Amino acid sequence: MTEIPGTEPEERLPAPRPDLAPVRVERLASPPSTRRFGLTGERAAQIVRQSGSSRWAAFLGVSFVALFVLGYYFYEVGFPGVADSGRMAKAQQDQVVTDVSRGYKLYQANCSRCHGEQGQGGIGPVLNDQMKLLAHLNPQYLRNVLQVGGRYVCGDANSLMPAWEQPLGPLNYQEVNEIIAWLRAPNDLTFEGIDPATGEPARISGWRDPNFVQPPTATPVPNCWKDAFAQPSTAPSASPGASGSPAPSGSAAPSEAPSGTVIKITAQNIAFDVSEIEVPAGQPFQIEFTNNDAGIPHNVAIHEGSPTGTAVWTGEIVNGVTTITYDVPALPAGTYGFVCTVHPNMMGTLTAK
Ligand code: HEC
Repeated sequence: MTEIPGTEPEERLPAPRPDLAPVRVERLASPPSTRRFGLTGERAAQIVRQSGSSRWAAFLGVSFVALFVLGYYFYEVGFPGVADSGRMAKAQQDQVVTDVSRGYKLYQANCSRCHGEQGQGGIGPVLNDQMKLLAHLNPQYLRNVLQVGGRYVCGDANSLMPAWEQPLGPLNYQEVNEIIAWLRAPNDLTFEGIDPATGEPARISGWRDPNFVQPPTATPVPNCWKDAFAQPSTAPSASPGASGSPAPSGSAAPSEAPSGTVIKITAQNIAFDVSEIEVPAGQPFQIEFTNNDAGIPHNVAIHEGSPTGTAVWTGEIVNGVTTITYDVPALPAGTYGFVCTVHPNMMGTLTAK
């Protein structure tokens, strides 16, 4: 029987030739197991172990990425149950504060001379009143007033307040947004600003009390601010947050008040013609009050200590041009302020002695 050469596997390998013995090269020096054709049990186990640990590594990697994504998500939108903890909420909040503090500066530069540094009113009506801030001074109304000017408020074509927003006024859309943001700012929002009274940096906070609820007895705010003064009022409405300094001017000579006679006060161009008056203490006296401002309501009220003190007596509010004589009851000796209830910037000092 002829053996077919090469049928036996060993036969197919070339016969070892000692002279051609392979030179051992370092890079081929892998262990015999890897050069083996086929798997040993040991090798198979090793492969299983290796793929097990690479699956573990992949799992760790995926978990890491997942945790990162989750963490970043909460970092962006905030942690559940923690208000304003997200970066986006903080960024939004920062933007609000920036608008409000810009609006505050614009207000102090353009509006405070008429509406008061604290919005307590003056030539222009009170703005810091909680009843007004509740609904009357809403963003849309404020925008209309600033676009059209004071005539929007009561339809008075000769209103003292000009238009503020372009094209009729000097301020642009964004600046008006900022003023509105400031006027509506809640009192728990604070920021660094300049206190107009001292000129020093100070912590400024908004006027509006977000928790304010309308007292059941409160009268609704009329559309035209002058209507609030239509009836003779006995006590001026308290404006929260209102503060100011007494009239600094002492230039005008005190008008003499011989006992039993009459003090004359005239209001013109939203100012009193006197800043100091003297009356006899403990004696009733009269004030002859002339309102020369056509269509603008004024009165004289006497306040404890200074024009910003509590009212001790309030004269009837009259629309100009008219003259009224007030009978004022006796005042104990002391210093008082006299003020126009409608225009708190009209004020002076009254001394009873
Ligand atoms: C020259 C004085 C003056 C200046 C400056 C001024 N105002 Fe006025 N403002 C008035 C007067 C006066 C009224 C009342 C309008 C009327 O009936 O004629 C008024 C009315 C308003 C009202 C409506 C109030 C209400 O109770 O309905 C708002 C709001 C207002 N002003 C905001 C501003 C803002 C904001 C600024 C600054 C950009 C400003 N004002 C600057 C005088 C002024």
